[in-house]
Amino acid sequence: MRIDVLSLFPEMYKGVLEHSILKKAADNGAFTCRITDFRQYADNKHQRVDDYTYGGGAGMLLMPQPIFDAVEAVTKDTGTKPRIIMMTPQGTRYNQRYAEELAKEDHLIFLCGHYEGFDERIRQSLVTDEISIGDYVLTGGELASMVVMDSVIRLLPGVLGNEVSAHTDSFSNGLLEHPQYTRPADFRGMKVPDVLLSGNHKLIEEWRHKESLRRTLMRRPDLLENRILTDKEKEWLQE
Ligand code: ADE
Repeated sequence: MRIDVLSLFPEMYKGVLEHSILKKAADNGAFTCRITDFRQYADNKHQRVDDYTYGGGAGMLLMPQPIFDAVEAVTKDTGTKPRIIMMTPQGTRYNQRYAEELAKEDHLIFLCGHYEGFDERIRQSLVTDEISIGDYVLTGGELASMVVMDSVIRLLPGVLGNEVSAHTDSFSNGLLEHPQYTRPADFRGMKVPDVLLSGNHKLIEEWRHKESLRRTLMRRPDLLENRILTDKEKEWLQE
């Protein structure tokens, strides 16, 4: 996968891309990422990228020209049809299903504003997706884009050492993850449930499924609203 980020603060990405799993994934060629400061595409003398809002009002808006030109520059010669993603609190709420969809793409381009909004023509004519990572307002789209990038990159083939973990973690089956334990079996009197020490894989699977379902019901009942429960699951929820 190829990732391009257009941001006025490229330095913000260093810590995230240069550590741990994302760094390893980049080193192994699972993705390539280029951060472009779109100020360099401003075609005016002072390299301005924002301007006042027509009709008045507080705040500045990012002008279309530098962003259109920057997108044209990063898509030149790629032969890909990228998803062009604007990070904005007005966007579609992001979730694991969205991450799975983006993980299938060849090329993602993130547009990140900082303080300012975007001129509407960027939305209308350039952007394919508007994404919000939650109902709160950040100072810019950079952190939000890093959240999306991280959640997409970990789904790319070969990125997680243990391939199973991406498929068993929270949300991938529509449920929250079940409780997990490691050694010791008894820590200060707090014991690991017997079933997990039983070696009976069928019972362990059943216990995990049940605990996932219970936890989802307690913490995120909204996730169960559109789920068709099996008879067994209905039975568990009644217990
Ligand atoms: N930019 C500012 N706030 C944001 C949010 N919640 N999601 C995505 N981009 C943003």
